Amino acid sequence: MRQPLVVGNWKMNGSLQFISNLLHSIQSNIDDKISCEIGVCVPFVYVGLAIDVAGKSSIKVGAQTVSEHTSGAYTGEVSASMLEELGCHWVLVGHSERRQLFNEVNEQLVTKVMAAQRAGLIPIYCVGETEAERKSGDTFSVIEKQINALIDNESINLTNLVLAYEPVWAIGTGLTATPDEAQEAHAFIRQLVKNKAGDLADKLRILYGGSVKADNAETLFHQEDIDGGLIGGASLDANAFISICQMA
Ligand code: PGA
Repeated sequence: MRQPLVVGNWKMNGSLQFISNLLHSIQSNIDDKISCEIGVCVPFVYVGLAIDVAGKSSIKVGAQTVSEHTSGAYTGEVSASMLEELGCHWVLVGHSERRQLFNEVNEQLVTKVMAAQRAGLIPIYCVGETEAERKSGDTFSVIEKQINALIDNESINLTNLVLAYEPVWAIGTGLTATPDEAQEAHAFIRQLVKNKAGDLADKLRILYGGSVKADNAETLFHQEDIDGGLIGGASLDANAFISICQMA
C-alpha cells in the first residue's frame, strides 16, 4: 500500500509574508479528512522560514533543485547537505523548467539525485514529454530515456525516491492529461522500474503533475498507478491545495 503524497511546487513565487501566511493557512486546514503525506517545495531563501513555520505539523518542506556537487567553487549553488542541515525533506530534481530553461540533462540530473540521497534528502525526480514529442509519437521513448538514465545507475536507491510524471504541455497551461493518458504513462513508468527492480516498483510513489486543480484531482488520483500530485499554480492557494490533499 502506497501512502498518497501531494507536494506543492511554489516555483519562484512569494515573499516572507506570503510564504508565512500560505503555510499557516494550509496548516490550520489540515484535518482528519486528509490522510496523504504533504510537502511544499519553496525557493531556497525561504526554506528556513518554511521549516520554522511548518514546525511540528505534518507538512514536510523541500527545495526545488540542488547542486550535484558536495562543496567548493560553485558560485550561486546550494548543496544537498546544506538543505539537509536546515531540515529539508524533499528536493525536486529535473523539473521540466530546469530541463528546458536551465539546460539540465539526464546525466547531470542523475548525479543530483545521488547527491540528494547521499545527504539524506528524498529526491522527487520529474519526467515528461513536450507537446511536440507527444504529437510525433515519442512520448514513451522520451519517458523511457529519462527513467532509464536514473534506474540503470546502480548507485540510485529506489527505496528513497519519488517519481513525478509531468507532461510538459500540461504544466501551467490549464491542459491536463486525461486520467487514462496519465494512468498509461504511470503504468509504463512503473513497469520500467519493475523490469529493473522487481517488486520494489510496487512501493515506489509516482506523482502526476500538470494543471492539477481541485476539480480534476479526484479522477486523476483514482487511477491505479497515480499516487498523488505535484501541484504548481493551485498550491499557491491554501483552499485549493487543501481540497487537492483531501482528494488524495
Ligand atoms: P501546474 O505546475 O500545476 O501549475 O501545472 C505543475 C508543476 O510545474 O510542477
